[in-house]
This record gives sequence, structure tokens and C-alpha cells, in this order.
Amino acid sequence: MAASPWWHGAVLYQLYVRSWRDANGDGYGDIPGIIERLDHLSWLGIDGLWLSPTMPSPDADWGYDVSDYTGVHPELGTLADLDALIAEAGRRGIRVLLDLVPNHTSSAHPWFVDAASGRDAAHRDYYVWADPAPGGGPPNNWLDSTGKPAWQWHAATSQYYLHNFLPAQPDLNWWDPAVHDEFRRILEFWFDRGVAGFRIDVAHGLYKDAELRDNPPLPAGSEPMAGRFGLRPVYNANRPETHGVYRAWRKIAESYSPARLLLGETWTGDLANLASYYGDDDELQLGFNFPVVFARFPDELPGLVERTLATLPPGACPVWTGSNHDVGRFPSRWCDGEPASIRLAMLVLLTLPGTTVLYYGDEIGMTDVTIPPELERDPMTHRDSPQGQRDRARTPMRWDAAPDGGFSAPGVTPWLPIGPPAANVADQRGDPDSVLSLCRRLVELRHAELGGGIASYRRLAAAPGIWAYQTGPLLVAANLGATPAAMPAEVGQILLRTDPSGSGLGPREGIIARPSSV
Ligand code: GLC
Repeated sequence: MAASPWWHGAVLYQLYVRSWRDANGDGYGDIPGIIERLDHLSWLGIDGLWLSPTMPSPDADWGYDVSDYTGVHPELGTLADLDALIAEAGRRGIRVLLDLVPNHTSSAHPWFVDAASGRDAAHRDYYVWADPAPGGGPPNNWLDSTGKPAWQWHAATSQYYLHNFLPAQPDLNWWDPAVHDEFRRILEFWFDRGVAGFRIDVAHGLYKDAELRDNPPLPAGSEPMAGRFGLRPVYNANRPETHGVYRAWRKIAESYSPARLLLGETWTGDLANLASYYGDDDELQLGFNFPVVFARFPDELPGLVERTLATLPPGACPVWTGSNHDVGRFPSRWCDGEPASIRLAMLVLLTLPGTTVLYYGDEIGMTDVTIPPELERDPMTHRDSPQGQRDRARTPMRWDAAPDGGFSAPGVTPWLPIGPPAANVADQRGDPDSVLSLCRRLVELRHAELGGGIASYRRLAAAPGIWAYQTGPLLVAANLGATPAAMPAEVGQILLRTDPSGSGLGPREGIIARPSSV
């Protein structure tokens, strides 16, 4: 039987490069900084890194507006630095995934600059251009991610162009075969350099309805991910043709050894739709599970986990994550900063079958940081945005309790303010009862007991408020409630407790055990 892919049972780590470690003292984290602190990740037991965008960009959306798909942003380092990172990480058994943005480019990308130069330009069809609606105004009712019309009037060529995000992020036109050729070359360029795969930005995007039909209204009372700003994004996202792109990319990914990994930002509230991106084991190998990310913790989690496992096609590897650079950090969103809940969430995330993705800072229980308006850096969101202000989860990593947090050279002002010193790596490393020590022990157990494949999952009968499951050879019992509860009958030797001083199963306490009889 073929060995399982390396990401089955693994732990990935989303590393927001600008905020992890600043090696050159300019206030921005960078690739040499990652190399400096790689030992933290190997100590933690991380299998792979997903680096937030590293490609050259004018940073209208902090790297998600790419102006050169085969380069490295000069503020983050050089191609040689990235090669060195891949080699140094590889030496520690850590693979490196890059962020790929195929739904749109920067308006500064040479393709768009050419496309905008005239209707007959060589790259005109790389983008989605349209005439005004018959009565004038934008071609249809689509809205961008901020709720404004998704069409920008381009006076020089008298047409609108589409942007599902900011006007500086024109959408690519995937109906043009030349766009497919470009991305095939981009994939191969990075795979040839040893990049282990990609997190695919807006993986549910890419194709748009060829007829540019209006989106239907969002019925009142729809679940939060069904749409925004009163519309259901039926015609500008999750189009059926997009699956063909991933079938083609999967073939490229599998022409390498080891196979390269395609991890999609599959933004959908519908688990069946998420499942569709795995195809018949011939599309994405992994897709982010946003229904779980947005679950009300802890009550909704067990049901969503089980619905996910029941809905994904057989053999598909689920992805568990609680935090990212858009939605905020789970210690805040799920746990409201409450230590026992943070530890319980960590236990659950790291014992479920499949792939777990931690966000930098999760390992120390870092919470969101309130950013004063004058220091906000994200042009797409602000304090009143429906998704919240995104800078709150992009603040510098807290390496120690010093004022600069060990992020940059002393005295350097970081690009975003650093959070409070209480949660930091240095203090937590020395404390066997810290969140960091718990996280490391969980990763260790995961590798030893749940690695090398997709572990089995079975719900066990338990007292009300207790979520008990067998995962691989381990038994997990999590008290989701606010009152102490009895241990499930099957609990044998206890291997780990989220509350090191606990003795039973207190409120928001979890344990991992060997089953006594199963
Ligand atoms: C994804 C990214 C987000 C970005 C958007 C546009 O959702 O995660 O940060 O703003 O795509 O590229």
C-alpha cells in the first residue's frame, strides 16, 4: 500500500511573515527572520509552514495583490533567502507552502498594465471587462468584499473591469486559456524550487459566470456564510468550471515526488460544497473548513466535526483550524481569552483526524489585539467592517516579555503594535504547565499516535456536556459545560490533562487517555 501523504495526521503552521520575526530591523518580519527562529517550529514539532504572501506586491491588500508571481517581495527578502529557508526548514523536516493568489492580480501587475492599455492589448482578455448595463452603470449587481459595486469604470478604454476585492485587485478571467498556461508555469516554477505546495487564496473564486448574471437576493435569516450585503454570491463564486482547474493542478502536483500539496481557501458555509473541492480524490487534497472556524465554541463543534466527517468523500483528509489572518484568533473568537477554554480548544484541534493548521501565536494562546484607528494598516477593513478589523490578528509574535517582544531590534517600532507581554514564548517554554508546553505535548502525541494517516473517529456515549471520542488509539473526553462531570467509563490511563492540577473532568477541562476497553 502506498504510504500516506505527509500531511495526513500532520500539523501545519500559518506564518504571517510580516509579523513573525524582523531580522533587518525595519519593523516588518521577513524571511531571514523565519530562518533565525526555525528551531522554535522544530521544537514544537511542526510538519509544514504556510507562509502568508511572499511575492512582490504594492500591498493594497498586504501581498494579496501580486505584481510578480515568480519573485519575492523585497521587504521580505530575496529569492535566495526563500531558497535558504526551504533548505533550512527541510533539514528540520519542515515543508514550506507558499500562498498563491489566482483569483486576481494587482492592478500593477504587467498583465493588467498591458490589459488596460487598449481593447486590443495582448493581455486584455486576462481580465474580466464588460460594457455598462443597457441603461448605464455597472454591468450587473455584484458587490466586492467591502460591499461596494465590484466593477471599476476604466475611462481610457470605456469599459468596466471586475474586482471581487479592492479595485486594485482586478479579477483574472479564467475563461481565457492563456491564464491557465500562466498558472501552470507558476506552479512548476515554485514546485521545481522545492516548494511543498500552495495555500490557494480564494480557491472558491476563479471562474465567474460567463453571462455575468445578477446575483439573487439573500433571504432573510440565511446562515452567515450564505452571502453578504443582501446578495447570494451564486454567479461570482463557487462556479462549477473551477473544479477543472484543480483537476489540472492536481496532475501537476502529483507529477512531483513527494506530491505537492494544494490546500484551498474554500470559503463556503456548505459542507457538501467543501467536499466537492476534494473531487474524486483528483482536485484539492485539503480544503479549509470555514463552518468549523465560525462554529460557536464549544457547543456547535461536536456536531460540525461529525457532519464534516460524514460529508467528506471517503479518504478525504479534513482540515481543522481556529484562527487565521482574516477571521481572527480562536483564543479570542472561540474562547474570549479564557485560559481553560483556550486549552480545551487546543486539545480538540490537535486530536481530530486529518490535518490541523495552527496560526502563529496559537501555540502561546495569543489573543486579538485592539488596534487604535490611527495605527490601522489593513485598507480592506476597519472597525465597523462586518468581518471585523483584520489587523487585530496580524500583530507581531510575542517571543519574550520585553517591550519589543523579541520581534525586532530594540527601539524599532513594529508595523503593527505588539500585544500585551503576558503570553510570550520565552516564559512559556520554561513553564511545563503553559499553553505552549501543552501545545507541544499535544503535537507530540498526535505524531506518535495519530500520524501517518487519517485516524479513525468514533463518538463515545458520555454524560451530558461531555464530548467523548475515540481517535485512532486514543480516547478524548472534553467537558464543554460549566459544571464538573464524570469521566466516561472507557477511560484507562490518562496521558494528558488540559488542567495539570485537575483530578476529574472540571468545567472546560479535557483529557487524553488510553481506553480501558474498546
Ligand atoms: C483571502 C485572503 C485575504 C485577502 C483576500 C483577497 O480571503 O485570506 O486576506 O484579503 O483573499 O485576496
